[in-house]
Amino acid sequence: MTQLPGLLDTEAIRKDFPILDRQVHDGKKIVYLDNAATSQKPRQVLDALNAYYERHNANVHRGVHVLAEEATALYEGARDKVAAFINAPSRNEVIFTKNASESLNLVANMLGWAEEPYRVDRETEIVITEMEHHSNIVPWQLLAQRTGAKLKWFGITDDGRLDLSNIEEIITEQTKIVSFTLVSNIMGTINPVETIVRRAQEVGALVCIDASQAAPHMVLDVQALQADFVAFTGHKMCGPTGIGVLWGRQELLEDLPPFLGGGEMIETVSMHSSTYAPAPHKFEAGTPPIAQAVGIGAAVDYLTSIGMDKIAAHEHAITEYAVKRLLEVPDLRIIGPSTAEERGATISFTLGDIHPHDVGQVLDEQGIAVRVGHHCARPVCLRFGIPATTRASFYLYSTPAEVDALVEGLEHVRNFFG
Ligand code: ALA
Repeated sequence: MTQLPGLLDTEAIRKDFPILDRQVHDGKKIVYLDNAATSQKPRQVLDALNAYYERHNANVHRGVHVLAEEATALYEGARDKVAAFINAPSRNEVIFTKNASESLNLVANMLGWAEEPYRVDRETEIVITEMEHHSNIVPWQLLAQRTGAKLKWFGITDDGRLDLSNIEEIITEQTKIVSFTLVSNIMGTINPVETIVRRAQEVGALVCIDASQAAPHMVLDVQALQADFVAFTGHKMCGPTGIGVLWGRQELLEDLPPFLGGGEMIETVSMHSSTYAPAPHKFEAGTPPIAQAVGIGAAVDYLTSIGMDKIAAHEHAITEYAVKRLLEVPDLRIIGPSTAEERGATISFTLGDIHPHDVGQVLDEQGIAVRVGHHCARPVCLRFGIPATTRASFYLYSTPAEVDALVEGLEHVRNFFG
């Protein structure tokens, strides 16, 4: 068995994930390499979800009965756990949403309804990058269309990095908000946050970071990032679907208007007008995703018990090995950084002129789960002149043997298509 420095004890970790024992296609053990789409869930998270529904289920913040109090304590307790996980200065800066897309849409809509000094209008500019997931492109396009603001973006270099050579022309005195991904969901590139934040601060622009592909894999410290908003999702970090997080700086959350109106987010309501509850409740209209919050809380406990620094080291070792082995496959071209430096454990590639959908299908027949397509980051495919990629993405339970299985699987694909 290949041993690499920095690896976690995957034999022990994999026992926590019942699904990893699944067999598919007549007894083939599943090799799950689609973690950038969603991670698998450990028993500890599944148990927390079950326990919530079996013992504590009630609506939060409303009841005076025992179950309502327990559900509220669990829901708000999950907020404490997430706040500690991202080193938020205050628990009130953690807003629960349904996913990262909703978190990013929330920021765009807060700004869309804001007055000065946050107002976005035809005199202002919004900056994103060409390597964003669609959920960090479309909300800003919608905002630009509605307000007349100009949408600008950083391009991508040939090796899949952000081209910041023209940073002073892209981020200008007119820029109101710069929104970019910390880690590319298609290429795995880790972006230079510090350089972008420094320039944004120089011109007084707000910074929003999409940390969907970072929160599951590395230490995420919102204070060190110096951003104004950070968005991520639970289901990619061992939690359930249906729960996302938006962290925002407290004074912004106090100043900016709510987006969704309804129960829970108000202080008083009359037929003429309403006043709003303080953040985070101001931004959590309606019955929130209670069980899902409990689930992300359990996921945070699980990841913390292993250690985010250890998870990052494990993934770095796996990535280094995977890049090396993949580059041995004839005709394979990595789309994105082709070294393990400043990149996460998500690797996209093309294989000669074999269509990625065919690659994915032949791999699936061998029990290997990868994602194929444009990965909701179509501008990246357009940039590289390709319709799609095959994407393998690793996590804390991935092993060198699974990298070997992928490489062998790709040999099969090549033989199959001659
Ligand atoms: N955003 C997820 C991905 O990149 C679905 O696959």
